[in-house]
Amino acid sequence: MDSIQSSKAYTLITGASGGIGQKLAEEFAKKKANLVCIARRADALKATTLRLMECYPIQVLWLSIDLTEK
Ligand SMILES: NC(=O)c1ccc[n+]([C@@H]2O[C@H](COP(=O)([O-])OP(=O)(O)OC[C@H]3O[C@@H](n4cnc5c(N)ncnc54)[C@H](OP(=O)(O)O)[C@@H]3O)[C@@H](O)[C@H]2O)c1
Repeated sequence: MDSIQSSKAYTLITGASGGIGQKLAEEFAKKKANLVCIARRADALKATTLRLMECYPIQVLWLSIDLTEK
């Protein structure tokens, strides 16, 4: 396999709207991993998602949810 993107796998990143999660999303994007990004703040999450898809040849899905809620 020459890149993560060559599989149909997605990497789930929680807390992708800021801090360590956002940095991890960037690191996986550099390796061409498709991502599913999760956090509560939709505006920050969407901005991160759009920037990653502009900069890297990957698919990024985002989901605004509070992981403490059932
Ligand atoms: N920074 C460090 O040097 C460091 C060192 C060791 C350990 N840690 C630990 O690593 C974790 C992350 O640290 P950080 O500095 O990256 O924190 P942060 O900047 O506050 O980022 C936390 C991320 O988690 C999301 N989040 C928080 N509560 C959530 C919830 N209920 N549901 C969904 N998403 C939620 C936040 O986004 P939304 O607000 O948009 O939901 C944000 O994207 C923390 O547990 C921290 O204690 C940090």
